[in-house]
Amino acid sequence: MASSTTLSSAIIPSRLCSSRNGLNSASHLALPKLGNKRMKVSCMATSIPADDRVPDMEKRKLLNLLLLGAIALPSGGMLFPYTYFFVPPGGGSGAGGIVAKDALGNDVIAEEWLKKHGPGDRTLTQGLKGDPTYLVVENDRTLATYGINAVCTHLGCVVPFNTAENKFMCPCHGSQYNNQGKVVRGPAPLSLALAHADIDDGKVLFVPWVETDFRTGENPWWA
Ligand code: FES
Repeated sequence: MASSTTLSSAIIPSRLCSSRNGLNSASHLALPKLGNKRMKVSCMATSIPADDRVPDMEKRKLLNLLLLGAIALPSGGMLFPYTYFFVPPGGGSGAGGIVAKDALGNDVIAEEWLKKHGPGDRTLTQGLKGDPTYLVVENDRTLATYGINAVCTHLGCVVPFNTAENKFMCPCHGSQYNNQGKVVRGPAPLSLALAHADIDDGKVLFVPWVETDFRTGENPWWA
């Protein structure tokens, strides 16, 4: 009896104990032979009613809802930072623009800016996509209607403005740009990018420049 019990557990239990398929009878099994003796096999497991093994529809719906919630919560949590990254916050801007920020992260108020920055001044602010962008003060003490992106078109260094030379001069490989950001010496292949600098409700607003580059008469390479 002991050997038949051992063998019965080695043979697929689910088949032996499946009452649904009617296989809990030893007569339905292909049983191994030991010499001339046929082994007796008996089912050791208790058959489970089919209704108890298959969750009913209400349970399945509940499980599906739990699964959906488990997926939706982390997905929704990730969606917000992705959206925030790819769609810059407006900050009171319109028409795809963004309010310029000063070195302290404050909105640039045009009137206050002009009190502190004289003619010919080019000072960095935070522009579109967070790029460092020069605000330009014209000789008549007004803000220029364009800002100059300070990222060098060679390998991406931030280009400082040299007041004495009246040029932007890249410290990395020597590229130079005139006071409007037009390239005048390589290795930089292109002029510095432009952005519109509008005034909206007293604040300076950078808006993407998609029109012809007034310095070269060509289509903007950055648009
Ligand atoms: S990064 Fe400006 S010249 Fe190379």
